[in-house]
Amino acid sequence: MSKTPYITTAIPYVNGAPHVGHALDYLLADVYARYKKEQGITVRFQSGTDEHGNKIWSKAKSLGIPVEDYVRDNAEKFREFIKKLGVEPTDFIRTSSEDHARRVGKIWKKIESHIYSAEYEGWYCSGCERFITDKEYEETGGICPDHQAPYERLSEKNYYLKISDFKERIKTAIESGEMTILPESRKKQVLNLLETSPDVSISRPKKNLSWGIPVPGDDSQVMYVWIDALANYLTVLGYPETDISDFWPAEVQFVGKDILRFHAIIWPSILLALGLPLPKVILSHGFVLANGQKMSKSIGNVIDPLDILEKYGLDPFRYYFLRHVDTFADSDFTWEKFDAAYANELANDLGNLVQRLAVLDKKNNVSIKTEVSCFTAPKNYTSLMDNFKYSAAFDYVWDEIQQLNKDINDQQPWVVAKENPEKAQEILTGLTMRLLDCSKLLVPFLPDTCKAIQGVFQETITIPAPLFPKN
Ligand code: MSP
Repeated sequence: MSKTPYITTAIPYVNGAPHVGHALDYLLADVYARYKKEQGITVRFQSGTDEHGNKIWSKAKSLGIPVEDYVRDNAEKFREFIKKLGVEPTDFIRTSSEDHARRVGKIWKKIESHIYSAEYEGWYCSGCERFITDKEYEETGGICPDHQAPYERLSEKNYYLKISDFKERIKTAIESGEMTILPESRKKQVLNLLETSPDVSISRPKKNLSWGIPVPGDDSQVMYVWIDALANYLTVLGYPETDISDFWPAEVQFVGKDILRFHAIIWPSILLALGLPLPKVILSHGFVLANGQKMSKSIGNVIDPLDILEKYGLDPFRYYFLRHVDTFADSDFTWEKFDAAYANELANDLGNLVQRLAVLDKKNNVSIKTEVSCFTAPKNYTSLMDNFKYSAAFDYVWDEIQQLNKDINDQQPWVVAKENPEKAQEILTGLTMRLLDCSKLLVPFLPDTCKAIQGVFQETITIPAPLFPKN
């Protein structure tokens, strides 16, 4: 059966402007999409915004703005942000849209045999919008470490999804690799969590949560944000009103490590209740830290990605967040590190190499016939890319870029040219072809830069303006 690979990103809450942490989902998914495109495969690529919930409602209220206007304006900021990152999803979903609400209602009806209602009493964090376990309560001394606020005791009627109906099936799927959890180190955590996971509550009384999708057939209840949000991956494709078998199961779902548990436990339960296959891969990325500290709207130490984009432009942004921010581990952002990577790696290693070769090629009448090169990406590179080890794939290409810099110095084509112009041309052609090969491997990461490099080395060489000027 021919299938279009479907990739998804987490949909951010719209209770503020985008921050650099949000960029990771988009960039990782975008690299995957562009890498596939280089292989002649086009993907379906979802993105969007998560617009319901008390936090968003209260924020709009505190600003004196109708909540619908507030979420629309913020969703627009995310849409623009995605565009500025050079990311081009095929679909953008807003969970406050009518299509989404109608389809989620139908999804709820379809899984009703796995839903029951009960009274719940427990400790709740309004920042996290979730009840926490007694164990977590004890471990944290009753204070949410993320929000620095005490937990509240709440009791209310909730609808529950019977995770217990699916535990064994999910466990087998994870262990057998039917649904791969990446990285491996978090797979174990998920399996442990699954073991002890209770049934999860998927609604709230309307009086406590008014901004959300109504539970079908019960006016007093509103769907809790997680079921509403997770369903986006299906509703955006038109499910259950449209046949989605060309796209589902998803090829890769990119999420942050903080929301892996929802994607690895609640989400598969919903899918199994619907009789749908599980996603092939759930990739959980690490966090971008600010000076070693978690970045969060509540703490107020978020870095504005637009500042970086404005100061440096798109490809340096992509470069830093795809090479120096590891796909899986937490990584730090500081302006010092960013400046150093820009100056030493982009401007020096790559920018100067392009400039130097262009000048030498032009001077020695080198003419590049790109159409004769038949290029296959090296196995070392593809195996890193296929395993989402993007910063390691970058390292692999960068070793060659540094080697090229060294080879120019060692081979001194400008000295050879004095005695033997043909030999100099041959050396320069070889070096240039190797640079062009590097640029082909970097296309998924630095699309504009690679296009510029490929534009420089044609039959007639064009000497470009510095690719990465000093700021
Ligand atoms: N709305 C939910 C996701 C629902 S998906 C069905 C949510 N929103 S969020 O705005 O809090 O986070 C959106 C994404 O950004 C998540 O993947 C989250 O992990 C990621 N990040 C938020 N802060 C981050 C960092 N500082 N670093 C890296 N990613 C982080 O969760």
